[in-house]
Amino acid sequence: MSQLFSPLRLRELEFKNRIFVSPMCQYSAQDGIPNEWHFVHLGSRAVGGGALVVAEATGVSPEGRISPADTGIWSDAHTRAFKPITAFIKSQGVVPGIQIAHAGRKASTDAPWRGGKPLDQSHGGWQTIGPSPVAFGHSPAPREMSQKDIETAVEQFADAARRSLEAGFEVIEIHMAHGYLLHQFLSPLSNLRTDEFGGGLENRAQFPLRVAAAVRGIWPANLPVFVRISATDWAEGGWDLAQSILLSKWLRDLGVDLIDCSSGGLVPGVTIPVGPGYQVPFAAAIRKEAGIATGAVGMITEPQQAEDIISNGESDAVFLARALLRDPYWPLRAAKALAADIAWPDQYLRARD
Ligand SMILES: Cc1cc2nc3c(=O)[nH]c(=O)nc-3n(C[C@H](O)[C@H](O)[C@H](O)COP(=O)(O)O)c2cc1C
Repeated sequence: MSQLFSPLRLRELEFKNRIFVSPMCQYSAQDGIPNEWHFVHLGSRAVGGGALVVAEATGVSPEGRISPADTGIWSDAHTRAFKPITAFIKSQGVVPGIQIAHAGRKASTDAPWRGGKPLDQSHGGWQTIGPSPVAFGHSPAPREMSQKDIETAVEQFADAARRSLEAGFEVIEIHMAHGYLLHQFLSPLSNLRTDEFGGGLENRAQFPLRVAAAVRGIWPANLPVFVRISATDWAEGGWDLAQSILLSKWLRDLGVDLIDCSSGGLVPGVTIPVGPGYQVPFAAAIRKEAGIATGAVGMITEPQQAEDIISNGESDAVFLARALLRDPYWPLRAAKALAADIAWPDQYLRARD
């Protein structure tokens, strides 16, 4: 019996298997509004047989976008545009999820295929904000957020959650990873504040925890909230696994249901031991030490590899990104490789055997 294809229940939501489509920025929206590209991109991955499709890092505000082409969810027009996408994903027996995000000091950049460089205001960019005026690499330094800015951002995350729910999403993932705003507050390398939002771990975690509490307050009790973290900065004196475990316990106590365990992104130029399943040990440690469900992500590409992660109890689910860009039908193929008997879309049945 394949464990990868066994159902997972979080709160009252059942996932038909343990394969989750990781959020992936498409840099293809205008004014934050998802369009046909997003419909087809997310829709194809729902047809492909995973249990959860998570829409890309979606800005809680225009300044929170990584690039001007990111999706956003700060107005009713955004909510409306996401509705047909969530309806289609659900029609395939798949759970629609969304990652809500604020890029902080890493905002205002060009799409990666146009170089990904910081955009100045004459080219559609904007002044970035962050915990402290410390630049990311060669980006301009952000403006230090006031306590009022922090309150506003908490409200923006809560509003984004309200709109995501109205748009039909059933899982919400708060982006606290990859060096974006909430991670910038967590890490001592980017947070040099001397007020209640900086200093010791409890202070640095204050703003991310307020966001989690606000989102949990909006998200219905029968539906799960996920948080994606970077379990380490891979940098001396930075964020690390021990702090991630403590943060995960606090998030669990606030009612967060799953920690999606990624890493890195806070500082450029670090050495990361990238290889098959290189972040899986973080998911395993957090699952064991913090007593919360986890998702493993990063270089998970083979069906047996994914099966082993789940059956060894290293995580409750696997998030796949690039393998699913190469092949949206990876889950259908994996089921075959692992001899799991799963439903195919009726329209594709003639290709099954
Ligand atoms: C095109 C692309 C876009 C991505 N966008 C996001 C994103 O919006 N949010 C996020 O947390 N990670 C993002 N990631 C990271 C992936 O979700 C994933 O964590 C990473 O690619 C490692 O998994 P993989 O080896 O299966 O690709 C992106 C990755 C790719 C390839």
